[in-house]
Amino acid sequence: MTKNIFDKRLLKETATLTIGDKTLELPIYSGSVGPDVIDIRRLYADTGMFTYDPGFTSTASCESSITYIDGDKGILLYRGYPIDQLAEKSDFMEVAYLLLNGELPDKEEKDDFVHAITYHTMVHDQMSSLFKGFRRDAHPMAIMVGVLGAMSAFYHDSLDINDPLQRKIASHRLIAKIPTIASMAYKYSIGQPFVYPRNDMSYAENFLHMTFGVPQCEEYEVSPTLANAMDKIFILHADHEQNASTSTVRLAGSSGANPFACIAAGIASLWGPAHGGANEACLHMLQEIGTVDRIPEFIEKAKNKNDPFRLMGFGHRVYKNFDPRAQVLAKSANEVLDEMGINDPMLDVARELERIALEDEYFIEKKLYPNVDFYSGIILKAMGFPTEMFTVLFALARTTGWVSQWGEMIEDPTQKIGRPRQLFTGDTQRDFIDLENR
Ligand code: CMC
Repeated sequence: MTKNIFDKRLLKETATLTIGDKTLELPIYSGSVGPDVIDIRRLYADTGMFTYDPGFTSTASCESSITYIDGDKGILLYRGYPIDQLAEKSDFMEVAYLLLNGELPDKEEKDDFVHAITYHTMVHDQMSSLFKGFRRDAHPMAIMVGVLGAMSAFYHDSLDINDPLQRKIASHRLIAKIPTIASMAYKYSIGQPFVYPRNDMSYAENFLHMTFGVPQCEEYEVSPTLANAMDKIFILHADHEQNASTSTVRLAGSSGANPFACIAAGIASLWGPAHGGANEACLHMLQEIGTVDRIPEFIEKAKNKNDPFRLMGFGHRVYKNFDPRAQVLAKSANEVLDEMGINDPMLDVARELERIALEDEYFIEKKLYPNVDFYSGIILKAMGFPTEMFTVLFALARTTGWVSQWGEMIEDPTQKIGRPRQLFTGDTQRDFIDLENR
């Protein structure tokens, strides 16, 4: 076993691939945990063939040491720390520092980091004018994609991706300003004035204050229970390995694009209902089901191959046992609703749907379990967020993971522009036919 000079992976053995009369020895690497990988980088040069893996179900697109998921055991680790321990004992700023830097901060490091983030929360004042260009009924995710992309037009002094200090400043700006931008997107949609950030509040408190407070008219009291639940939601959504939006950020960044543009690309990818948009879709689904007696009808729809309907908030590409984030949130949903004295019939529908689905042969056989989006919508609704804001909150929290993964990619000496190939099945070369002869 030899150790690669650049990285922590181990050359374990080789795999032999025989194609016709050609035999290839392909290196197999082991990471610290998780499946081994077969290094196929020389495959095309040596055989003229590509591999074919739509959806990357069998492809490790990069080497990473940030987040690890064991889907069979329902384990999610940030830099080695289990998500349930972080959700219970840590806070979002500490988790953000951990994801970015690899270790939990000591007291001084934490204070410095919190200070750096807190004092970057204001956005360039001219950015406020950008919002006016959007329709009032624009989806806040549309605003997020636009405004995040536009950040590259405001922060020219942190666009040089080859300068470590500029990368650090851009990362801090993104983490610090995204709650401000998210709350501005919300305020714009309801016709209220923007609320400036407050430097004496925690990250989650400040976000709630900017979202639900109103300037001048009255003081907004941030409930510690809500701030705590918000912080937990941010921790649970902070990173999740090489998912669609994170891979999008890496792919966009692989060409050398600036970090603000890359995060805008990640937000666009997150928006889809199969990814971050599922929390919004899940709440719509629970509303549509409405009452417990209608659940069997929807379970049948989900099982019907001829019906495109899927149970939103169920299933995951990686988790095939349970989603540990959903477990933390199920508990948190009870706490928040109890604390706020809310008796939401939707929670009854959700609990019963979960119970029935988990006993159903179809869901058991396909290993479909509630994912993080199943309960997050109920909590966010109880906190007063409209459904269109759910995916925005996901984007807010995931920005920390995206910038960490983006930074890791830039520093990876094996990094190259991402450029997949294809299995081409279209027409082969043919001569152009003039319009009058077609
Ligand atoms: N309801 C009913 N059937 C389902 C569901 C579902 N929610 N999810 C998967 N299946 C079935 C699917 O029809 C397929 O059946 P068959 O093998 O007979 O064709 C089988 O289970 C495997 O599904 P898949 O689509 O091949 O699996 P995937 O890994 O490509 O998709 C997923 C994962 C999350 C996109 C999918 O489970 C899904 O669409 N779930 C609902 C949307 C959702 O909740 N997304 C949030 C994911 S967690 C947060 C995040 O990562 O953003």
